[in-house]
Amino acid sequence: MIRFNRRYFGKLAAMLAAGSALPVEEIIAEPAKAVAGGSDRSFPAGFLWGSATASYQVEGAAKEDGRGVSIWDTFSHTPGKTANGDTGDVADDSYHRFPEDIALMKQLGLTACRFSIAWPRIFPDGTGKPNQKGIDHYRIFCEALLNAGVTPFCTLYHWDLPQALEDKGGWQNKETSKAFAEYAGYTAGKLGDVIKNWMTMNEMASFIDLGYGSGVHAPGLKLSKQKLAQAKHHAVLGHGLAVQAIRANAGKGARVGCAENARTTIPAYNAPEHIAAAKKAFVEENAPYLTVMHTGKYTEGYLEKLGADAPVFTAEEMKAIAAPTDFQGINCYTAEPVRASTNARGYEVMPRPSSYPHMASQWLTIGPEALYWVPKIAAETLGIKEIYITENGCSSDDVVAADGQVYDTDRVMYLNAYLTQLQRSVSEGAPVKGYFLWSLLDNYEWADGYGKRFGITYVDFNTQKRTPKLSSKFYANLIARGGL
Ligand code: FCB
Repeated sequence: MIRFNRRYFGKLAAMLAAGSALPVEEIIAEPAKAVAGGSDRSFPAGFLWGSATASYQVEGAAKEDGRGVSIWDTFSHTPGKTANGDTGDVADDSYHRFPEDIALMKQLGLTACRFSIAWPRIFPDGTGKPNQKGIDHYRIFCEALLNAGVTPFCTLYHWDLPQALEDKGGWQNKETSKAFAEYAGYTAGKLGDVIKNWMTMNEMASFIDLGYGSGVHAPGLKLSKQKLAQAKHHAVLGHGLAVQAIRANAGKGARVGCAENARTTIPAYNAPEHIAAAKKAFVEENAPYLTVMHTGKYTEGYLEKLGADAPVFTAEEMKAIAAPTDFQGINCYTAEPVRASTNARGYEVMPRPSSYPHMASQWLTIGPEALYWVPKIAAETLGIKEIYITENGCSSDDVVAADGQVYDTDRVMYLNAYLTQLQRSVSEGAPVKGYFLWSLLDNYEWADGYGKRFGITYVDFNTQKRTPKLSSKFYANLIARGGL
């Protein structure tokens, strides 16, 4: 490849018109750097490349091997709650087809896999008698991952709460926080030899706010402000108690964190006052979850805003909530532009005009710069030392072309843009150690059912045939080159 000396471009037309001989050596400035096998935009050696899935979204086998009923079974089987009445009864049938899924991971060159354990497979009733068949399943799965050279990253709660616990109040009941810690400790004790990287929960901000606030997710409740604030408190308490239980039971080398969908505040544009505002907003907007988990305190702003609706808590609980973790997982899809303001908080989260671009899911507005700013801001404001991007990806209106392939060029564009920003962040020192793409497979997208496809592998839900999309080739190429 040849690179031209840009200074000549203006003169070229005139020279050509006059029929003069072209000074080739001056026009060619330098040979371009070879690109094959190397990249200016590389990630550090040892950076983990993974995919992410969750039990209810991929496993199926809802009634097999002693699995109990979860709130998502109940919710998805309630008419009117999910698109088309879709349920996760079969999903990707990954409970049976996981060897094929792991073969896909190998083909991609993944070094890590984020998956979740279904609580009702381990304790069908939430507490009490454990189910050995559940433990056996995840042991076999993890051994297969390890044999393929893929490191397991396990989430203990990706929203499938045993229905028996919901019947006693679910996350409104402090007993659920304790039951979660017992389940976490028990499972870590049984699987600590094959799983070293543990995440307590996935996205408290989703399963509480959507499940108990707006009611669009299981269990479909719309609680009062006070009850909702208390449920949030029970979630972070459950996380903290589980961190302690995992440490006590998992054995040597266990590392513990959680995967949270932080509010991804970014500066409206690159100006000192807006950067400062985005930092303030990050701490304040994440007050009920990420901030309290890393500081052991609810911010004054949060407590003031809630007033009489603030959660009831003890000093001992606050200590447990802030149990030290080894890493923080951040699920990052969108960005929230923030600007400096003269209001009491000093910032304003900006509105989005209706022309703001989004992917196939309405909520999935495009904001690649989140992967530049959020790791930096999280590290600086909350002192987080090790970060994984535990989810990033997008839905596309995928179609199978006449040749049987899926050309998801929009997903490639999305991933390319976000990963470029992540590389920029890491190269400037943000402590991000790995990236998990959501998702390996098209799967059950909660209340959106099977209509929203997030996979880099297309799944025909009638036949369970898996077809890697263009984006999977993009990802494999990036992993092989170690960069963009
Ligand atoms: C996240 C969830 C995950 C998946 C993606 C698209 O909020 O954690 O299960 O649904 O969104």
